[in-house]
Amino acid sequence: MSIVYHEASKVFHLYNKTVSYIMMILPNGHMGQLYFGKKIHDREDFSYLLELAPRDMASYLYDNDRTFSLGHIKQEYPVYGSGDYRHPAVVVLQNDGSIYSDFVFSKYRISAGKPRLPGLPATYTESDDEAETLTIELRDTHDNLELNLMYTIFANGGIIARSASISNYGHDSVQLKTAMSLCLDLPDHDYEWMQFSGAWARERALHIRRLEYGIQAIDSMRGHSSHEQNPFIILKRPPADEFQGEVIGCSLIYSGNFLAQAEVESHGTTRILMGINPFGFSWKLNSGEQFQTPEAILVYSPNGLNDMSQMMHRLYRSRLARGYWRDRVRPILINNWEATYFDFTEEKLIQLAQKACKCGIELFVLDDGWFGKRTSSKAGLGDWIPNSERLPDGLKGLADKIENLGIKFGLWIEPEMVNADSDLFRAHPDWIYKVPGRKPCHGRYQYVLDFSRQEIVDHIFEKISLLLESANISYIKWDMNRSLTDVWSSGISAEQQGEVFHRYILGVYQLYERLTTRFPKVLFESCASGGARFDAGMLYYAPQGWISDDTDAIQRLSIQYGTSYGYPISSMGSHVSASPNHQLHRQTPLWTRANTAYFGTFGYELDLTRLSDNELSKLKIQTDFMKKYRQLIQFGRFYRLLSPFGNNVTAWMVVDENRNEALVGWYRTLNVVNGPFTRLHLQGLDESCFYDVMEFVEGSPSAVTSHYGDELMNLGLITSDASSGQYADGRRESCDFDSRLFYLKKK
Ligand code: GLA
Repeated sequence: MSIVYHEASKVFHLYNKTVSYIMMILPNGHMGQLYFGKKIHDREDFSYLLELAPRDMASYLYDNDRTFSLGHIKQEYPVYGSGDYRHPAVVVLQNDGSIYSDFVFSKYRISAGKPRLPGLPATYTESDDEAETLTIELRDTHDNLELNLMYTIFANGGIIARSASISNYGHDSVQLKTAMSLCLDLPDHDYEWMQFSGAWARERALHIRRLEYGIQAIDSMRGHSSHEQNPFIILKRPPADEFQGEVIGCSLIYSGNFLAQAEVESHGTTRILMGINPFGFSWKLNSGEQFQTPEAILVYSPNGLNDMSQMMHRLYRSRLARGYWRDRVRPILINNWEATYFDFTEEKLIQLAQKACKCGIELFVLDDGWFGKRTSSKAGLGDWIPNSERLPDGLKGLADKIENLGIKFGLWIEPEMVNADSDLFRAHPDWIYKVPGRKPCHGRYQYVLDFSRQEIVDHIFEKISLLLESANISYIKWDMNRSLTDVWSSGISAEQQGEVFHRYILGVYQLYERLTTRFPKVLFESCASGGARFDAGMLYYAPQGWISDDTDAIQRLSIQYGTSYGYPISSMGSHVSASPNHQLHRQTPLWTRANTAYFGTFGYELDLTRLSDNELSKLKIQTDFMKKYRQLIQFGRFYRLLSPFGNNVTAWMVVDENRNEALVGWYRTLNVVNGPFTRLHLQGLDESCFYDVMEFVEGSPSAVTSHYGDELMNLGLITSDASSGQYADGRRESCDFDSRLFYLKKK
């Protein structure tokens, strides 16, 4: 990996074995973008890539020059007001009311490794040889602002991390109206844009469209990244697919309001912007202050979507997630939510935990309803004190009883929220977001605490710390069950109200940081009504997240598949729930529910006391299976094979880094009578090695066949179901919502 500056041509070239990122100092001192793509040779001069043109109707900067127009030059961090009519990366409102900026190159520095971003989640390095960072300093001398653009290239993979910071060295304050994390000007628009959209209980479904002239964008204005859109998009060349072709992934490490936008301008180029949503945002930058944007990650692959995702997985699993649990397999848990909802007693919980223990489950999680007057969603949030009627021996009593059974104890909290019917709200009615003189909106009968105010974050930190100290708690599910809308903070002035959304999320990050530092061995799982805050920002604090409140195995195929484009398998909370399922009322075989949930962190979310002994014995087989293979699943290389979006069959697989073993999941939504011959082309195996292949039928390994890796990848694994009704092995009938699981081991 290298970062080179060619003084004569004023060109910077960041490259490693996979990728090149090239930019130059333009004649006017702004930074121009020349190339981002497959690695090319370094050379002294790439400035021929700066295409100047005398175009009618363009605006030009220099007298007697009708070629240099920022309107058609590809740039790194464009401003508004000097001839570029596209959307800018930065807008500064100055005291004279203008929004014209002129950031001119001042100097650069190259450093080994990667600096941390103050107060924000970001990727990191563990040794200096893992990455190199280029910081380009630009200055606007008119108002004494300094802009620093940071670029980190990692030694491995096509990954560039970017962020920007703006410092005010002037006497007067200014208002930042826009400060994006990333701008990428591409030379054409021959791309398909992939986004992951949805709603509560159907998160992150893949949608693809061709880039067109004009603006296409996704965003969130909800105060969290949202169910509706995810701060991750992909651009791919139209012929590219899972296994070949050019792909660029753009991911924002941020959990608040975001914007991801593509603008195709009239000469066919594409501008990608990604960062904090400018809607509702402004930031008063006083003299001597600095504003740091969140980090955005660019991942380029010349080898298709799977390769891009695998780079994201590795980066986010090992250099974004942190702490004790980062490299550890995750405990198999049971969560009581779908077993009891709000209706439980301590006795019921103990019964559940006893059954869980017999099934080999390792962690019992007590969900919502254990505190204050919380017997429904109408009361109690904010009062983080155990309900003594429900838990007569307190949390410690319950936790000890559960631990004595031989399993760990975990707890649900929702620290950012408060019900009107709570002691906290009665004591501090002014702690919620509400606009003066207006009636505040509630969501699920709850209000959002003003986490932009330090004393409120401090109060919640004290309460949750006391809780975690009061009992043996090994795991926290941190929920967040409503969006923010009518935000206004009494903690800051009227002219600063545009800061509230960002300050809120900084408060959330601060609380996460303090709690994870104080309780380093507690496993944190993020959650927001399922997957409404499943984003890269959260992964920095919580290495796993509950991906959806929809626990139906078939719906989960789409959610897990969609999520896998940008996030690692080890981060996906995935549980076996009851049949009929509580959200879709669909009946699915127990094996299919497990075969889907295995490809995540794995756990259960159903009333074990209602299962027969026969069913419980099957759960024991499942937990044994997961314990044996979770290292492979959670830390192996994941391949998407067949997509659930628009298809009847879904398939995926994981292969360990040494290609010694692999696990393949195959799922068919509806049964097929007298179906076609089918083969599943596997990926990532060692071509010249012989693998034993066995199918797990209801948890038991079937007869072994042996094949070379190249057979399995080129001829495929035969999955034909010609008889429809009975599989060839004669042991099992096919059905709707069927699934198969194959294990491969190098001989
Ligand atoms: C959210 C979560 C669920 C559950 C409930 C409890 O919806 O996503 O898993 O914890 O809250 O109220």
